[in-house]
Amino acid sequence: MADNMMTDKDYMERAIKLAAMGIGWTNPNPMVGAVIVKDGRIIGEGYHHKCGLLHAERDAFEGCKEDAKGATIYVTLEPCCHHGKQPPCTEAIVEHGIARVVIGSRDPNPLVSGKGVEFLRQHGIEVVTDFMRQECDKLNPVFFHYITTKKPYVVMKYAMTLDGKIATRTGASKWITSQVARDHVHMLRKKYSAILAGIGTVLSDDPMLNCRNDKIEDPDGKLLTVEPHQPLRVVVDSKLRIPEDSAIVKTSKEYKTVVACAYEEDQVTDEVKDKIIRLHDAGIEVLFMNHDGKVDLVKLIEWLGEHGYDSLLIEGGGSIGEAALKAGIVNHLMAYVAPKIFGGSQAKSPVEGYGVELVDQAAEFKLVDKKIIGEDILLEYDLVKGMNDVYWNS
Ligand SMILES: NC(=O)c1ccc[n+]([C@@H]2O[C@H](COP(=O)([O-])OP(=O)(O)OC[C@H]3O[C@@H](n4cnc5c(N)ncnc54)[C@H](OP(=O)(O)O)[C@@H]3O)[C@@H](O)[C@H]2O)c1
Repeated sequence: MADNMMTDKDYMERAIKLAAMGIGWTNPNPMVGAVIVKDGRIIGEGYHHKCGLLHAERDAFEGCKEDAKGATIYVTLEPCCHHGKQPPCTEAIVEHGIARVVIGSRDPNPLVSGKGVEFLRQHGIEVVTDFMRQECDKLNPVFFHYITTKKPYVVMKYAMTLDGKIATRTGASKWITSQVARDHVHMLRKKYSAILAGIGTVLSDDPMLNCRNDKIEDPDGKLLTVEPHQPLRVVVDSKLRIPEDSAIVKTSKEYKTVVACAYEEDQVTDEVKDKIIRLHDAGIEVLFMNHDGKVDLVKLIEWLGEHGYDSLLIEGGGSIGEAALKAGIVNHLMAYVAPKIFGGSQAKSPVEGYGVELVDQAAEFKLVDKKIIGEDILLEYDLVKGMNDVYWNS
C-alpha cells in the first residue's frame, strides 16, 4: 500500500506487528511497537527488541530516515516518563519535535500510568489515547498482570479430543492435534517465561518442554529466523521421582530447569539427599514447597514472581490441571480441540482429581478468542471465577 493512502488504523496495525517481533525477549517488559509518520510517509519504525535494550520509540527514532519535527508517532503503549534501564521515551518525543502522539494501551505501571500522556500534553503535543486499545492490549496481558501483582500470568493449556480426553486409556497422547497446532504451542513456549508439567506427564511422555519455534514474522509478512527464547522448565514432583535418564534431566545444563518437591528441606533421608545432589550436578535446582505432601502451587507461583518470571504456561496433565484451578492460580485457559474421539472411562481428561460437588462450585470462564488452526480449533478463555475456593482452606 502506498504510504499516503494509509490511515491511523493502518499505522497502528503496523506498530502492533512490529511489537509482536519482540515475542519472548522483552519479559518482564511489555512488547511495544512504534511507527513515525511525516507528510503521509513512514520515516521511522521500531520495537522493543529485548529487556534492557532501547524502547520502541527510541528504536524508531534511531532508524529515522529524516528529521521527525512535526511528525506523528503511533505507539502501542503509553510512552514511559520515568528513568528505568532506559531514559524516558516522553523526553525523546519532545526532543524530536513530534507534533502528535497516537497511543493504544494505557500503561498500568504506577510509575507511568497517565503521567506519560500528561507530560506530552504539557509540552504542547496533541495526544490521542485509547486508539485501537483492545487490539494493543492483546499484546501484553502478561505485562499488565505482572506489573500490578508481581505474580506470573498463568496460562493453562491442553490439547483434547472432541470427547474431552488428553490421552488414551493407556496414557498415549502423541499426537492429539495436527502439526500446525503443535507448532503454535512452540510459539507459546517462546512467549511465556516458564513452563510447567506434573511428574505424571514427565513419566508418561518424557517431554523436553523446550521451544523449537525459531521463526518470527516481520510487519510485511516475511519470516525471519531468530534464536527462540527458552522458558524456565518447572517440574512438579513431590517425591523427586523424576528419572535421571529423562530428556529433561539430561538437558538441564542447556535449558534452565527447576523441580519442585514436597519434602521439608531439613528432613530428607540420605537417599533423597543423594538424589538431590545428583540432580543438582545435572544442572537442576530443587525447590522445597510442601503442602500436605504435595507441591504447594501458590508458593511456587510466588517463587516464580520473586525470581522475575512474569508468566507460566501449564502443560498438564489432569492432576496438575485440577490442582492449579483449585489453587486459584490460573488466569487464562487455552484448549486445542482435535476432531478425534478416544472414548474410555479410564482415558485422561484435562482436569481430574475430585472435581467439585455442586455446579455453582465450578470454575467459570469467559470466551475471549477462537481460531481454526489446521484441522483443530483453539478456544481461549479468561478465568472469571475460581473452582471450589474452599479447597485450600480445608
Ligand atoms: N493432551 C495434553 O495436552 C496433555 C498435556 C500434558 C499431559 N497429558 C497427559 O496427561 C497424562 C498425565 O497426567 P497425570 O494427571 O497422570 O499427571 P500430571 O498432572 O502431569 O502429574 C500429576 C502428579 O504431579 C504430582 N504433584 C505434585 N504436586 C501436586 C499437586 N499440588 N497437585 C497434583 N499433583 C501434584 C503428583 O505426583 P507426586 O505426588 O508423586 O508428586 C501427581 O500424581 C499423561 O498421559 C500425559 O500424556 C496430556
